[in-house]
Amino acid sequence: MSDEQNGGAWLQQYDDVHMHVFGTPLRVMDHGEGMRIWDVDGNEYLDFLAGIAVNALGYAHPAWVKAVADQAAQVAHVSNYFATKPQIELATKLVELAGAPQGSHVYFGNSGAEANEAALKLAKLYGRTLPGALPSFGGKPARIIALTHGFHGRTMGALSATWKPAIRKPFEPLVPNIEFVEANNLRDLRDAFAETGLGHYGKGPVAAVIMELIQGEAGVMPLDADYVRGVRELCDANRALLIIDEVQTGMGRTGSWFAFQREDLGGVQPDIVSFAKGVAGGFPMGGIIAFGQKLSDLFSPGKHGSTFAGNPLGAAAALATIETVERDGLIENAEQRGEQLRRQIMACGNPLFTGVRGRGLLNAIQLAHPCAHAAMEWVLEHGLIINAVAPDALRLAPPLIASEQDVDDAVAILSQIPSDLSDD
Ligand SMILES: Cc1ncc(COP(=O)(O)O)c(C=O)c1O
Repeated sequence: MSDEQNGGAWLQQYDDVHMHVFGTPLRVMDHGEGMRIWDVDGNEYLDFLAGIAVNALGYAHPAWVKAVADQAAQVAHVSNYFATKPQIELATKLVELAGAPQGSHVYFGNSGAEANEAALKLAKLYGRTLPGALPSFGGKPARIIALTHGFHGRTMGALSATWKPAIRKPFEPLVPNIEFVEANNLRDLRDAFAETGLGHYGKGPVAAVIMELIQGEAGVMPLDADYVRGVRELCDANRALLIIDEVQTGMGRTGSWFAFQREDLGGVQPDIVSFAKGVAGGFPMGGIIAFGQKLSDLFSPGKHGSTFAGNPLGAAAALATIETVERDGLIENAEQRGEQLRRQIMACGNPLFTGVRGRGLLNAIQLAHPCAHAAMEWVLEHGLIINAVAPDALRLAPPLIASEQDVDDAVAILSQIPSDLSDD
């Protein structure tokens, strides 16, 4: 119980009092600065995970610390009976950054899962306006379509749209009328739409398709650009919404504010975009932007809410994060450092590495055999934080402030990972 105890003792105490959903943590952390973090035993680590694609500005960035401290000294929480300036400014800024049309509106929550809960609830309200859907006479519940390998969070709605059977199955039955189609297979999606039909035999209409543009938890797997454009077209043709989950890809990480703004997607726009993780640079916050007035209006008073929604501390943290990303050119930096990282990984000569994929600073190294956990632990021992995103893939998602030297330093450690580590 004392500050004198070492990391091992803290971990023992952790195990004694926490439920074990995360397993035993690797280290107990103490403080960070910039790209570096130190554990309670004084060991230093270069951080190429950023709290899983969260800490856009690294640790203890002066602008972020000042914004949060000033806001804490001013007002930390007011409830949704009241509003605060940072909240209003942030919503205005997010609509602008997303390039969302006039009449678009933001709903704030506290995490990625909550953001997707909001998106799914809004889609359900929209579904009820479609021909052949409940609540019309003889109507059916509108369906929501999700993709194989997609990940949208652990709460019941978000989990229902999450693919991985191991995390979904123990909680079934989940939210009904959510179906999966194969990612990158337009025919599969077309078939799902074709099952819509009025009367006894048809399934209900499709309210929405939900997808990530780079499937992060699946191993940083980008969807094909043709597929993304095709999904948009099918949604338009069938009056279905397109929900793009930018919880992991958004807020500059993939080289644009949102991944849907990538040039090769040719201007694809979502109807709803969800965001979280990096938005407030480490403060828990998430939310959605509904594109356009009509859709936004479906969230009429009482339809959704959360005590902390739009919390001023989170909003101040987010404004400081966004301002710093803009002022310091961190989106361009993400693009350039990402290219450097991928190039150097492929050139480093480690026989364990068979490929690298990703965009900006959301990347994964493909391994020759499934030893990702052992590799993660090996680099941690050598002062680098990354994670095993799949048994045979390592995720690199550093803060957007990563410098050329940081990338050099990370690759120097990665290049030394022994290729004969034991499989997970
Ligand atoms: C694409 C995506 N959506 C949703 C979530 C859930 O976010 P949270 O863990 O903040 O609930 C995650 C988390 O990894 C994610 O990667």
